[in-house]
Amino acid sequence: MKTLFIGDIVGRKARNFAIEKIKEFKKGKCFDLIIVNVENSAGGFGVTPEICDQFLLNGADVLTSGNHIWDKKEIISYINETNKLLRPMNMVEGTPGLGITIIDTSFGKIGVANVMTNLFMPKSNPVFELLNQIKLKFNSNENICFSLVDVHGEATSEKLAIGHILDGHVSAVVGTHTHIPTSDYRVLENGTAYITDVGMSGDYNSVIGMEKKAAISRFQYPNNKHPRLTVSDGPPTLCGVVINSKKNGLAESIKPIRIGGVIDNIGI
Ligand SMILES: [Fe+2]
Ligand SMILES: [Fe+2]
Repeated sequence: MKTLFIGDIVGRKARNFAIEKIKEFKKGKCFDLIIVNVENSAGGFGVTPEICDQFLLNGADVLTSGNHIWDKKEIISYINETNKLLRPMNMVEGTPGLGITIIDTSFGKIGVANVMTNLFMPKSNPVFELLNQIKLKFNSNENICFSLVDVHGEATSEKLAIGHILDGHVSAVVGTHTHIPTSDYRVLENGTAYITDVGMSGDYNSVIGMEKKAAISRFQYPNNKHPRLTVSDGPPTLCGVVINSKKNGLAESIKPIRIGGVIDNIGI
């Protein structure tokens, strides 16, 4: 089975570019499954119901998110009624929406989970305490042919530790949130595909997708008043990983994919 996971979509240009590419992939039957992290797809902050529908209607199968999921308030009622847009599982009890889902596809049952790490991140429940829950949910259902965990977090060490714990229990553990792709993609020793961060889909001539002059000024002059950051408007790069998996649900390979913009270097 061939799965495409696309990293954090930042802003309108990257969103439109990703949707065009997803349509092409769908038409060309390039992938069996497409999962997209949409947490920054609405103006860099959050996601709206219309944007989710746009992704899902054009070929994305499941959408994941992270700490920015609530930036657009209208998403609250939407997330309550869908199992195809996830928010991190370890948000406090009573949080709307789901953090883990199993969906039916023509290939069989697919499991997707979204967790948020704890180091240097907004407060959430301890992430290491819920990993068993993921193992149980995805292992106990023998019909699951592919499972993926989006680990949304800042610290590389913490994400890798989670990858090792889930190794052999899920098909893939992919990191998001830093918006910077890492080159440590590999299949871990027990058969789980892993990457610490797939990188964002946005303008890389920026500071993690935001207009660079204003973002730099915040670091240079931390005591000044600063306007709200805006999405950088240059040509976007679509960044993700392609995972090939076997019938038993474990991974065969994982490869990065980067299309367009300033870091376009890998085809599919
Ligand atoms: Fe994030
Ligand atoms: Fe993000």
